[in-house]
Amino acid sequence: MSELKDIKLPMHVAIIMDGNGRWARQRNLPRVEGHLVGMESVRDIVTATRSFSIPYLTLYAFSKENWTRPKEEVKRLLEILDIYLEQELPLMMEKDIRFNIIGDLNDFPERIQEKLKDVMKKTGKNKELCLNIALSYSGRKEILHAARGIAEDYKNGRIKKIDERVFSRYLWTKGIPDPDLLIRTSGELRISNFLLWQIAYTEIYVTDILWPDFRKEAYLEALREYSRRDRRFGRVKEA
Ligand code: FPP
Repeated sequence: MSELKDIKLPMHVAIIMDGNGRWARQRNLPRVEGHLVGMESVRDIVTATRSFSIPYLTLYAFSKENWTRPKEEVKRLLEILDIYLEQELPLMMEKDIRFNIIGDLNDFPERIQEKLKDVMKKTGKNKELCLNIALSYSGRKEILHAARGIAEDYKNGRIKKIDERVFSRYLWTKGIPDPDLLIRTSGELRISNFLLWQIAYTEIYVTDILWPDFRKEAYLEALREYSRRDRRFGRVKEA
């Protein structure tokens, strides 16, 4: 693909999709309109990721803290998630995309849980792209969940040592490599409790573009910038 010529691609891209509300406000529209157009961006970015052969994509769709938003907005976000699952399953099957959730599935209404599990099951053997959606997600809660699991297994003698490799097996991202690139849209310089353990050496890219406007061209720009970065993982650069 000529647009990717000479670009060193990441294996795993994580995205904090921010700015739907501001996008709507700028147009005097209700916030939900921003989320609806944001869903189109999700489709574009998933499709582009697949076409670039990047094997892992993680999208922050709903944080644990987002439950405190107005009831009506939460309800509409759940409806949008429902529509997304309904509409995208055929594409996931056609494009060999595995759908995976990280976060507290139990926080969701029973019907949505069943649907999420169903899509995970149906796409479970797909190989080309692993699409992780963070839902009711909190990085600190994920770390606590892992710590509890480790404490239990250590006590029972199921594990003998605790190191970084063992610890990461207890995270919701088990088996998934750490993100190489973290993109945040809409200009905020925050991590917002996202993948706290996993982003230790991740390159961070922040753009002012609001999520509903973040499409393939903006994504390519982020990938080009990533490709220019010199990743040293704390080492000294060789002469
Ligand atoms: C942040 O914008 C966005 C969200 C909290 C929701 C993300 C949801 C989508 C992109 C739509 C559907 C996604 C899927 C996976 C089906 P904000 O509302 O915090 O914007 P603001 O900071 O401008 O108010």
